[in-house]
Amino acid sequence: MPDIFFPSDAIKNQAHITEDEYNRLYAESLGDPEAFWDRVARTELEWFSPWEMVLDWQYPQYKWFVGGKLNITHNCLDRHVNGINKYKKAFIHIDEEGVETSVTYMELLERVNRCANALRSLGVAKGDRVVLYMPLVIEQVVVMLACARIGAVHSVVFAGLSDKALRERIVDSEAKVVITANWTKRRGKKIDLKGVVGRATEGLDTVQSIVVLVRDGDACELHTKEVNFDDIVAKQSAVCVPVPMDSEDPLFVLYTSGSTGKPKGIVHTTGGYSVYTHYTTKIVFDLKDNDTYWCTADPGWITGHSYVVYGPLSIGATSLLVEGAPDYPKPDRWWEIIAKYHVNIFYTSPTAIRLLRKHGEQYVSPHDLSSLRVLGTVGEPISEEVWGWFYERIGKGRCVLIDTWWQTETGGHMIVSLPSLPQKPGIAGRPFFGIEADVVDVQGTRLRDGEKGLLVIRKPWPSALRTCWNDEERFEQYWSEIKGVYCAGDLAIRDSDGYIKIIGRSDDVINISGHRIGTAEAESAIGTHPAVAEVAVIAKSHEIKGQAIKAFVVLKSGHSESDQLRNEIKLQVKSEIGSYAVPEEVVFVPTLPKTRSGKIMRRVLRAQESGEDVGDLSTIED
Ligand code: WT7
Repeated sequence: MPDIFFPSDAIKNQAHITEDEYNRLYAESLGDPEAFWDRVARTELEWFSPWEMVLDWQYPQYKWFVGGKLNITHNCLDRHVNGINKYKKAFIHIDEEGVETSVTYMELLERVNRCANALRSLGVAKGDRVVLYMPLVIEQVVVMLACARIGAVHSVVFAGLSDKALRERIVDSEAKVVITANWTKRRGKKIDLKGVVGRATEGLDTVQSIVVLVRDGDACELHTKEVNFDDIVAKQSAVCVPVPMDSEDPLFVLYTSGSTGKPKGIVHTTGGYSVYTHYTTKIVFDLKDNDTYWCTADPGWITGHSYVVYGPLSIGATSLLVEGAPDYPKPDRWWEIIAKYHVNIFYTSPTAIRLLRKHGEQYVSPHDLSSLRVLGTVGEPISEEVWGWFYERIGKGRCVLIDTWWQTETGGHMIVSLPSLPQKPGIAGRPFFGIEADVVDVQGTRLRDGEKGLLVIRKPWPSALRTCWNDEERFEQYWSEIKGVYCAGDLAIRDSDGYIKIIGRSDDVINISGHRIGTAEAESAIGTHPAVAEVAVIAKSHEIKGQAIKAFVVLKSGHSESDQLRNEIKLQVKSEIGSYAVPEEVVFVPTLPKTRSGKIMRRVLRAQESGEDVGDLSTIED
């Protein structure tokens, strides 16, 4: 396969940003980031009042658009309703049976307003936290926007996490209200979300109400604190004036895993996040007004926040929301949807592509995929082989395929291959405007092209995390691990063209199907099983998921290894965290390799797993 692909003239000629413009604007954006973002913020969004200062950078704190007032829902909704997109479809939802429901910008605004008024009727005010544990339905977006409308801080929890993981997030964020649905469907099976919320909130006085979306008018018994979503929303006015938010007022908290301890609540604020997600959506996806756009992520993760909800709505796009698994009820479900809805821009994960590729060619070829123009991936490295399949078999060699590296913490795309630029398979691309990315050693010294090192960002960008909820210290770690710069926790290599290849995490974080899980988190989940004395987990490579967990378990005396125990341990992880974190492999061992001071040497386990030299063992105890 060639190691570089050039976009077709058709794509290049109509792109928002040409290659020359990228080079010029990128240089300009690094030379004077404040002037660059000032111009973008003014020309792209509507503000209630302007800012006095673009960036206030007092290491390690930073503020963007200081003193500016806006409401993200004004830019996502009212602006379109006041303009030409009033009756344009904002979302088309497709459920597992293929049943379609859609909503225009006008209808979405009214539904958001009703829901915002309903939240107020439950006592939710500016700054209060609302946790969502919802299926991928239009109402999930409505609730997120309703929170933003009144200045409440949403914290979306992916509706595949366990009751314990949900509880931890509700407790940490001190949510007043939790919103859920009676069920979601996955592979034809109804999953009882309300039951999970019930267990997660048992005895929690901080939670005042639980709002339940009762789907399809099913019979649903409501208990104390529980109220019916439709009932409380129906009686509200369809008018709700958006609360003027300060640029630096929090918009949401989203929990993600780190290398140590419990998940941290990443806090994003209003102004910078609005500007950055809007602008990256426009430029990176080259999104045009008549495009149909489909990002397959769930709003339970950052990709859904930035590139299902806020970015595309801010642009005024028509997006698909597709509930359920990619290959259920049939392996060509996604290709059929692309053909039926004439999707132009398709953004997904390498895991999904690997899964669908495995089903075979016969599921792709019958479908007319000629509407596609831009393909994108996110969440994990994509191998050249998988890149090539996606490019040739789905894009038919006509589309541009962009990789996008970013994180929950970064809020938006950081390293990308813009549609008008040459694409290098397996290499994430070049930094977005204003992003000064570099590859350095542990002391922070810049490495030469081709050398592997730590990926850092030298200065704050508008959608950078502002803090970790209730944990400023963990926030500061991002900017102090290598003093003065943001350390992403990834290993990377820069080539002589300035393209950056992401190798994988540099820390104890495992990436399963694009979802992060800390080794410490997985180990503590396994450790809650009564038969487990000690445990260490490592990542092993997995054909579909990219990585999977392999757990080494030392049993307490009196217990002996068995398949039943192995299954119990897996179930324990499912109930502590969620299915996605369940170890692929559990092996029982008599001891774990440790240093003399008692620290588990995971590198020894990793080296053994990959058949590499285990290295210097002089400090090992046993
Ligand atoms: C970690 C962030 C950003 C939304 C989804 C994941 C890995 C992300 C790529 C990519 C290689 C990638 C990194 C990063 N990652 N995108 N294009 N190529 N690796 O967000 O859960 O915050 O995870 O995902 O390791 O640090 P997240």
